[in-house]
Amino acid sequence: MKFQINPSLKKLNTFGIDVRANMMLTFRSVIDLKEILKGKVYQANEHIILGGGSNILFTKNLEGLVLKNEIYGKEILEENDDFAYVKFGAGENWHECVLWAIAHNFGGIENLSLIPGTMGAAPMQNIGAYGVEIKSVIEKVFAIEKTTGLERVFDNCDCEFGYRESVFKHTLKNKFIITHVVLRLSKKHDVKLSYGAIAQELDDRKITEPTIKDVSDVVISIRESKLPNPKEIGNAGSFFKNPVVSQQKFDSIIIDHPEMPSYVQEDGVKIPAGWLIENAGWKGYVSGEVGVHKKQALVLVNYGNAKGYEVYNLSEQIINDVEFRYGIALQREVNIL
Ligand code: FAD
Ligand code: EPU
Repeated sequence: MKFQINPSLKKLNTFGIDVRANMMLTFRSVIDLKEILKGKVYQANEHIILGGGSNILFTKNLEGLVLKNEIYGKEILEENDDFAYVKFGAGENWHECVLWAIAHNFGGIENLSLIPGTMGAAPMQNIGAYGVEIKSVIEKVFAIEKTTGLERVFDNCDCEFGYRESVFKHTLKNKFIITHVVLRLSKKHDVKLSYGAIAQELDDRKITEPTIKDVSDVVISIRESKLPNPKEIGNAGSFFKNPVVSQQKFDSIIIDHPEMPSYVQEDGVKIPAGWLIENAGWKGYVSGEVGVHKKQALVLVNYGNAKGYEVYNLSEQIINDVEFRYGIALQREVNIL
């Protein structure tokens, strides 16, 4: 366990926002965490849980305590002919776990390559990319209840996963700290190639029978061509969720915008927010140190020394403009603090 006073959070959030917290406690085990929850520092202060800081926008200094999760470990619990059940510490870097799984020839998460952040935050918003969400491989989520310090084990169905949603963002918001995640990874692979440019990119590389490593390589290359690397330009990936609207609402918009892309879902029609934002004229917009990424309109960026509230204000302007033009209220994906 490590205790720091007045730490800078600039390097601990991928937006690169320069704020400080009053205190930070870094925990490396469940025992550490239980100690912290019993202690005076925790009980006397407001707190937040921090993983890799890749889905957070800090808008001000934090009056209180940061609990930084650094629980590591990867353990193969069980294997059969079809699956390997692997328990990961919540502080493990997500992308490194993907590469580790591929190196062991364990499949199911290759489409989620290069997503930043930690294993423990991945179930929070049910991370997803290129046609796969983590919910398809989650076996169990281990978490500590903050008020009691007791461990609870969540099965997949307990997590109430949805598009960028889980029970940990709703009914159980701020109630649990995730410490471990067990994934059910495949040994007989069923590669998912239907999303976006994956099949085309494999074709360009003349790969006809792709391995999970091939899929991962292709996903990495597509992502690198569109998304800014947070080490170079501060960002938190998609700032907004893609809205799902009713069929009736969709029909009313498509009349004026027949070229608008859309995807039919069980609960309505999903419209790419990137398209709405680009068509409202925001793509590549720059104001001082903040902007809308020039290759991906869904990504807001910090070009250097932006304040968190400047990024937030830009998001507010975009929400208002998209609402005015299309009558669609965009929801933020990024957690605002
Ligand atoms: P943090 O930002 O540290 O925390 C996020 C939230 O989870 C906070 O509310 C925090 O309090 C809470 N939290 C964190 N850890 C725990 C824990 N152990 N227990 C309880 N609560 C916790 N996301 C996608 O889904 N798909 C993508 O394709 C994608 N691409 C991205 C690309 C880029 C360039 C960037 C910067 C981000 C992208 N993201 C994407 C968003 C982000 O990577 C994910 O949401 C990731 O899971 C966040 O992990 P983190 O550890 O950084 O979480
Ligand atoms: N589009 C535009 N202009 C843009 C961006 C997108 O018109 O500037 C349109 C295009 O029609 C494109 C469509 O939007 O075909 C979809 O774009 P893309 O495939 O880049 O995906 P996205 O909807 O913008 C979502 C996720 C990403 C995930 C990718 C790939 C959300 C909010 N975002 O982005 O997740 O990596 O799909 O699966 O669902 C994240 O959550 O942080 C994130 C990066």
